[in-house]
Amino acid sequence: MIKIRVDAGAPYEVLIGRGLFCDVHKLIGDICKTKRAAVVTDDVVDSLYGDRLVEQLKRGGYSVDKFVFPHGEASKTLSTYGNILDFLGNSALTRADTVIALGGGVTGDLSGFAAATYLRGIKFIQIPTTLLAAVDSSVGGKTGVDLPVGKNLAGAFHQPSLVLCDPDLLESLDKKTFADGMSEALKCGILADKTLFNSIGGGSFDAEDVIARCVKIKAKIVGDDEFDRGERALLNLGHTIGHAIEKLSSFSVTHGEAVGRGMAAVARSSASFGYCSSECAAKISAAVASLGHPTDVPYGGEEIFGVVRHDKKRSGNKTSLIVVRDIGKCEIVSMNDEELMKFIRAGIDDEGDDE
Ligand SMILES: NC(=O)c1ccc[n+]([C@@H]2O[C@H](COP(=O)([O-])OP(=O)(O)OC[C@H]3O[C@@H](n4cnc5c(N)ncnc54)[C@H](O)[C@@H]3O)[C@@H](O)[C@H]2O)c1
Ligand SMILES: [Zn+2]
Repeated sequence: MIKIRVDAGAPYEVLIGRGLFCDVHKLIGDICKTKRAAVVTDDVVDSLYGDRLVEQLKRGGYSVDKFVFPHGEASKTLSTYGNILDFLGNSALTRADTVIALGGGVTGDLSGFAAATYLRGIKFIQIPTTLLAAVDSSVGGKTGVDLPVGKNLAGAFHQPSLVLCDPDLLESLDKKTFADGMSEALKCGILADKTLFNSIGGGSFDAEDVIARCVKIKAKIVGDDEFDRGERALLNLGHTIGHAIEKLSSFSVTHGEAVGRGMAAVARSSASFGYCSSECAAKISAAVASLGHPTDVPYGGEEIFGVVRHDKKRSGNKTSLIVVRDIGKCEIVSMNDEELMKFIRAGIDDEGDDE
């Protein structure tokens, strides 16, 4: 079992290991001292792992209630959030008890936000079941829901007390959902880990190793900038353009695919502006393609810029964009609208010959 400590305001551990799900009742003992827990999960994950978790907890002497909501981003709303709060209240959970989020990023974000606000904050444990949740959303304490006007607009910083990640749980994922999570893992490689990048790009990787490497990178960034005031922005590599692609496609392009396309585009722009070599950009494109994602941007530079201009991450008329210096090294660059437009166009409108 691999243990990674996250040095947030309240430090916690991420435990990664195959078969660890079978020992959940033993591993949560230090956190869940009251032996009273509320499990939150979606219907798909519930049908796969819900009963096993509840049975194990009961075998360990825990008293457990479970809340199941319909799977998918469409459930990440104030309404589901309210239903979870009602469920916690009806289960008479106290501040000493614990919420357990079993699922992907949607479940983690919803349950974390409910745990952040129920009784002004109770403990929660993340058990990620998607690759995206394992390498990204289960660590770092960003919780929240979507509003009708946009994604992730209401939420709170609330760190989990423990993250239990069993790569065996990811084996039931379909290929596309797994590939979507791999985009985030590739992002970690481009940001800070050449070995990780090469193993993903080369197609020979071990899920446990990939998760551990990504969590280490995220733990370091979150430890240095828990509340997203500086360095944490690095985790947005490929996301500014990615979010614009998702939005312009009315979310028919998945997040992971959009981020893959966004990273390839930013790499092309970075090469064209002299931040990195064109070989580096070509390697990034090839790695994105190796995951099965397209590397082009299916919209014009002007259209993408139109959406980016309204990004919530802007401050004043400046936008922080993550540029690539090399594989394993990226940098935050603040651009005004004119610079941003030129930069975006360089990776989209004059798509290079590296495809
Ligand atoms: N909090 C953060 O820091 C952070 C970071 C990145 C993304 N996010 C959020 O995460 C969400 C996306 O996460 P996601 O991609 O995990 O989505 P998700 O939770 O909706 O899971 C994707 C699909 O996979 C299914 N599923 C989950 N585990 C499975 C398993 N083991 N086997 C088979 N099917 C399984 C789910 O039922 C769902 O249909 C978005 O809402 C995004 O905003 C949050
Ligand atoms: Zn992402």
